[in-house]
Amino acid sequence: MERPAPVTIIDYHNRSKHDFGRMARSAGYLDWSNQPFPFRYYQGAEQVELALLQSDPVVNFGDLMSAKTVPACRFTLDSLAGLLELSLGLSAWKAAPGAGKWALRINPSSGNLHPTEAHLILPSTAGLQAGIYHYDPYHHRLERRALLDDSLMQELEAWFGGPGFMVVLSTIFWRESWKYGERAYRYCLLDTGHGLAAVSLAAALFGWRYSYLPGLSDEQLVGLLGFDRVQWPAREKEVPQVAGWISCQGRKAENAGLPGDWMSKVRQCRFDGRPNRLSREQVAWPVIEAASLATVKSDPSAPVCHWWYREGDQRFEFWPEVAAARVIRRRRSGTEYDASRSIPRDAFVALLDAVLPSRITPPFNAGLGAGQVGLVIFVHRVEGLAPGLYCLAPGRKLLDSLRKAMASDFNWRRVDDLLPLYLLTEGDFTRQAAELSCRQPIAGDSAFSLAMLACFGSLVSGDPHFYRLLHWQCGMIGHMLYLAAETWGLRGTGIGCYFDDPVHHLVGLGDDTFQSLYHFTVGHPLEDRRLQTLEPYHHLGLTKDA
Ligand SMILES: Cc1cc2nc3c(=O)[nH]c(=O)nc-3n(C[C@H](O)[C@H](O)[C@H](O)COP(=O)(O)O)c2cc1C
Repeated sequence: MERPAPVTIIDYHNRSKHDFGRMARSAGYLDWSNQPFPFRYYQGAEQVELALLQSDPVVNFGDLMSAKTVPACRFTLDSLAGLLELSLGLSAWKAAPGAGKWALRINPSSGNLHPTEAHLILPSTAGLQAGIYHYDPYHHRLERRALLDDSLMQELEAWFGGPGFMVVLSTIFWRESWKYGERAYRYCLLDTGHGLAAVSLAAALFGWRYSYLPGLSDEQLVGLLGFDRVQWPAREKEVPQVAGWISCQGRKAENAGLPGDWMSKVRQCRFDGRPNRLSREQVAWPVIEAASLATVKSDPSAPVCHWWYREGDQRFEFWPEVAAARVIRRRRSGTEYDASRSIPRDAFVALLDAVLPSRITPPFNAGLGAGQVGLVIFVHRVEGLAPGLYCLAPGRKLLDSLRKAMASDFNWRRVDDLLPLYLLTEGDFTRQAAELSCRQPIAGDSAFSLAMLACFGSLVSGDPHFYRLLHWQCGMIGHMLYLAAETWGLRGTGIGCYFDDPVHHLVGLGDDTFQSLYHFTVGHPLEDRRLQTLEPYHHLGLTKDA
């Protein structure tokens, strides 16, 4: 395929902005007959069926937030299956009269299009040979793409400091660009962040720990997964995003990359399986390919930026006693919110506490870098808090930068003992919040909605790979908001559609020091009673009490 004309990632970011009078370029209509199939299969690869969990791990969501020790499970085919079921598996099917049925997943995805795929490098255990596998969530099974010698996996485990396995998330851009055109690259990155958080949290339920592996270049990942030897259907290739090590002893990985000659040994493996075709025809979105190329991780030794981690501070302690697995399974996006109801202040504080990056709790303990994102919050209906515009600014450095960059007449009065939460200005922002989020009522009818302001220009022009990292961080923040909301009987919705520069203007940002990379809304949901809900694996003849 032709190499797309290069773009700088800042150019890509600017041209993929929405504004009141101009939406980012897209096809402008939905060709339903050509919608990409949401499941990838590697046809011809050996399949390994996975069991559904007989019982969920007994860990409350609040336990995860307070870093309570969870006894480490042994690595078996069943515990691996449990991790996948609770991170990237199906969560339900929805059906509507005249609209057919569609699958939902544990991880959310813009437009429910699911560009994220997962590959695993696994040691042998009963029922499983060591190898490189792709996860197929539709059938809840693994597809073996390559066999590895046991000694290779032992070498890898010794290198990372004990038993464990590797997870690599990849992306198929076409799944998102089919609907969203040029803006789709951003959504793919946010979806990766959600996937990362989902894997990291599920790992914690088994007493395992996910560590981000920054010491692997994109080129190495392509080689590792044999992607350079796959015959991809045109424009449907998978692009590796992020690699992590899951320690089955709950430890941080001891190394960031692979042992010296490990890759060259993997390169001698035979890769099996032919990827299925997802669409009849594909529309080229060269700027997305170009944005992906502009942000590759080419230097594995490039540092991850750590500004600030929450450490030693007091944390919110009064979480409702709800099993984390239940929360994970029930997570859904709210499609409408009840504008007549407010939420307790405790719930609001808990939700924001859950997104403050901690070095010891998942998903931020993955080591992806943190603290480069502040939240501008439109408080609409929170008990004991005046409606208005607020800012959650974790860490002194971020707070100072935000204060300097934003409107000079903001108040910056700290309003909470626990949280670094500041009132900017009081007022009713319900209408503006909805307007700015592409006129979506969910941003104004909720209890609060927010914009994630990432420290942008200097980081991204210094190393364009930060564009990915910042979006992953925002996806992770969104993921925590989804789950924390569910724990409180509330619901959240990720919002990728918003008018970028009008948001920046509202808070007085005049340049690209900060950019809004993701929006989110939380409140009391109104259920759509026309929809029927079906069990996640009913299509395989499997049922499970939710
Ligand atoms: C990155 C991202 C952006 C999203 N943007 C929007 C949005 O602008 N408006 C909306 O109503 N839902 C949005 N959603 C929610 C998705 O539509 C939802 O996740 C998807 O339909 C799957 O449903 P579920 O979350 O209930 O599993 C977004 C989700 C993600 C992850």
